[in-house]
Amino acid sequence: MKIGPTLLVLASGLILFSGSRGLASPALAQEPATFQPPSDSEIPSDPFGNLVRKGERIFTQTRTYAGKYVGNDLTCESCHLDRGRKPYAAPLWGAYVSYPRFRSKNHKVSRLGERIQGCFRFSMNGTPPPLDSDIIRSLVAYSFWMSRGAPVGVKLAGARMYKMPPPHRTPDPFRGKKVYAAKCALCHGADGLGTTSGHDVAFPPVWGPRSYNMGAGLAKVSKLAGFVKMNMPLSKGSSLTDQQSWDVAAYVDSQPRPADPRKRQ
Ligand code: HEC
Ligand code: HEC
Repeated sequence: MKIGPTLLVLASGLILFSGSRGLASPALAQEPATFQPPSDSEIPSDPFGNLVRKGERIFTQTRTYAGKYVGNDLTCESCHLDRGRKPYAAPLWGAYVSYPRFRSKNHKVSRLGERIQGCFRFSMNGTPPPLDSDIIRSLVAYSFWMSRGAPVGVKLAGARMYKMPPPHRTPDPFRGKKVYAAKCALCHGADGLGTTSGHDVAFPPVWGPRSYNMGAGLAKVSKLAGFVKMNMPLSKGSSLTDQQSWDVAAYVDSQPRPADPRKRQ
């Protein structure tokens, strides 16, 4: 599909501006997602459907349903937005069909369950539940169900995070700090620690002891920049320029957060 330089209409109905800010960024390389996952109302009322619903609950209320394995204030949905449906926020429908996959992170071919364990360990700063546990099985079932009808073995448009084109200027945390103050602090707090309402996390922390750890995908500036570009500020994805996304990612990832568990003893 050919993508015009100024207006892109995503399947989600979002209207994005790109390439029109005099920053000479190449037309966005992303394709609009076309895959449509089934809706919740289509989850069958049978034992399989129960497993899928359980997976969805764990995904959206991770501390309540898998608390023992979670070491921070995030849920799976904090990053895999819209219950794991949003394109370019590593949607679950894109995940199921692309495993087993080789990962350079551990030089192994991983199954989907093992990949999910990785998010528990790094993104949730926790302990991975056993592969054959109910928790991993329900999450895999939820991912399987959501990918209904998707072709196997191809990368669907909108799968994973958006891959940023290289930055024009070296990402700069000092410029990023200004972007953060103007565009992010309102929800995530000037101190990056997020905000709570009662027992619930209203806006998740983006750094500090209750955030993702240094081994997480988002601890890489390029991954975080792609996530921010497409998804933040919340519901205003693609409103930042590429350079602002790089800079704010460099700033957020320069802040303190829990160590990489592979380097902790
Ligand atoms: C702090 C953000 C964050 C949190 C929280 C998080 N993840 Fe992830 N997850 C990521 C990133 C980043 C990737 C890598 C996406 C990519 O490869 O572009 C990823 C990848 C995945 C994938 C593989 C996607 C693919 O297409 O290869 C699955 C499945 C997944 N996560 C499930 C989960 C589950 C289940 C939870 C909750 C237990 C969770 N994640 C929590 C950030 C997060
Ligand atoms: C209007 C409120 C709002 C604004 C403004 C906003 N965010 Fe978010 N952000 C959220 C919410 C809410 C989530 C979690 C979504 C969910 O749980 O469904 C989130 C999730 C995230 C995450 C993944 C989870 C985590 O806490 O690590 C990152 C990283 C992030 N935002 C960075 C940013 C950055 C950078 C900006 C500024 C460019 C920004 N956000 C602006 C509300 C906001």
